[in-house]
Amino acid sequence: MSDTIVVSNRGPLTFRAGDDGALVAMRAAGGLASSLHRLLARSGTTWASVTMGAADREAVAQDRMHEDGLDLVPVVIDDETYRQAYDVVANTTLWYCHHHLFDLPHRPRFDRYWRTAWEGYRAYNRAMADVIVARAGQGAAVFVQDYHFSLLGRMLAEARPDLRTVHFLHTPFAAPALLGVLPDEVVAELLDGMAGYTACGFHCHQWEADFVSCYAAADGAAPRTFVAPLGPDVGVLEEEASSPAVAQAAQALRAEVGGRRIIARTDRMEPSKNIVRGMLAFEEMLSTHPEWRGQVVHVAQAYPSRQGLAEYLAYASDVEHTAARINHAFGDRAAGWTPIVLSVKDDWVRSLAALTLSDVLLVNPVRDGLNLVAKEGPLLNTADGVLVLSRQAGAWEELALDGGGALGINPFDVAGTADALHAALTMDAPERSARATALRAVVRGRTAADWWADQRAAAQY
Ligand code: F6P
Repeated sequence: MSDTIVVSNRGPLTFRAGDDGALVAMRAAGGLASSLHRLLARSGTTWASVTMGAADREAVAQDRMHEDGLDLVPVVIDDETYRQAYDVVANTTLWYCHHHLFDLPHRPRFDRYWRTAWEGYRAYNRAMADVIVARAGQGAAVFVQDYHFSLLGRMLAEARPDLRTVHFLHTPFAAPALLGVLPDEVVAELLDGMAGYTACGFHCHQWEADFVSCYAAADGAAPRTFVAPLGPDVGVLEEEASSPAVAQAAQALRAEVGGRRIIARTDRMEPSKNIVRGMLAFEEMLSTHPEWRGQVVHVAQAYPSRQGLAEYLAYASDVEHTAARINHAFGDRAAGWTPIVLSVKDDWVRSLAALTLSDVLLVNPVRDGLNLVAKEGPLLNTADGVLVLSRQAGAWEELALDGGGALGINPFDVAGTADALHAALTMDAPERSARATALRAVVRGRTAADWWADQRAAAQY
């Protein structure tokens, strides 16, 4: 029996079938799983996560889902239930709802097919509930991560009222008007599910306020809430960034862009990240300030994410077409200038190199739970780089610094973003340095360990 259990969809370890059919273990990708992994390493904590396909299930069958220093509990889910819960409900419905991404004239459509998927989401939550109920010691603390488990709070409260259950949401929470797009009975079940938790945490006050307003709009009682922004693991990140591999990648990147200025970004390839509008803003800056042509390169890293979803594949194609069009319109072969250098590979070393070298870091999500890159960039940058940051990123609350930190943008305003990029590139050295120093101090002041300590404190509510 465990007295502390962490719950997430993606666990620290996943498997794929190698070319010869044998199972190959891989470390989990993604901000949440890797942050948690560093925090919990060697702690012996019980970590329950879900099998993400046949290879994971086979690894469980072969008893290979183990990690030294952790007590991994794989919850086995069949492909169809997983597709319904992860693809249809979590990532195409709840993700779009909480990030305000619905294209309302066309989507969503809550037909019978969708309602069957909702049953799958419920079954997925139930499968996790059954495992927790069996594994949790009397009065144990359960730390549940993210929107995949909106219904688990109520299930646990009913089966094990002795448990202290904390839900932490890594996305924003929808404003009432957008939550109201979901079918009435689904809104009711979701709010009731979350109200079953002892406490619900968010990366910033805005998402907490939206969450509480949804209960007010439904005449319901919200659970206890708290705000606890995640921070980078400073030591680990600095060590990674100072590795020879990153130095080599930085050299290669420098050779690629020459002596030109760098506007960098690094994100998952994902609609909420607003990569296309970022490129359009860069294009607009090249049009309105032709003096930048040939002088600056937009280095965009967009690594693959959730490729089973048609929406994500369509978005990736939009990103690639936009970059190609702008490069065709503005590029100068003779001068060796490619305006947008887009990389769609998962290349963390190159991302670290770009964060280190950039003159400007563009983080312009439509809406984002936090955006850890907005903190990692200023921490690692060695060029007094300016952070151009969406006011819809959770990190904005910490990094605005009364106008002395990041430059804020409205992520929908392409012309405004172009102006901010120009302002960042032309900012004088003392102001760049003052802003970069202030940002670094704030980022260093709050780490992943503080975030985890806040969750532990919330379990005592
Ligand atoms: O930002 C929300 C989030 O769910 C993170 O918690 C996670 O690291 C990231 O998105 C990637 O998600 P997935 O596990 O679906 O690839």
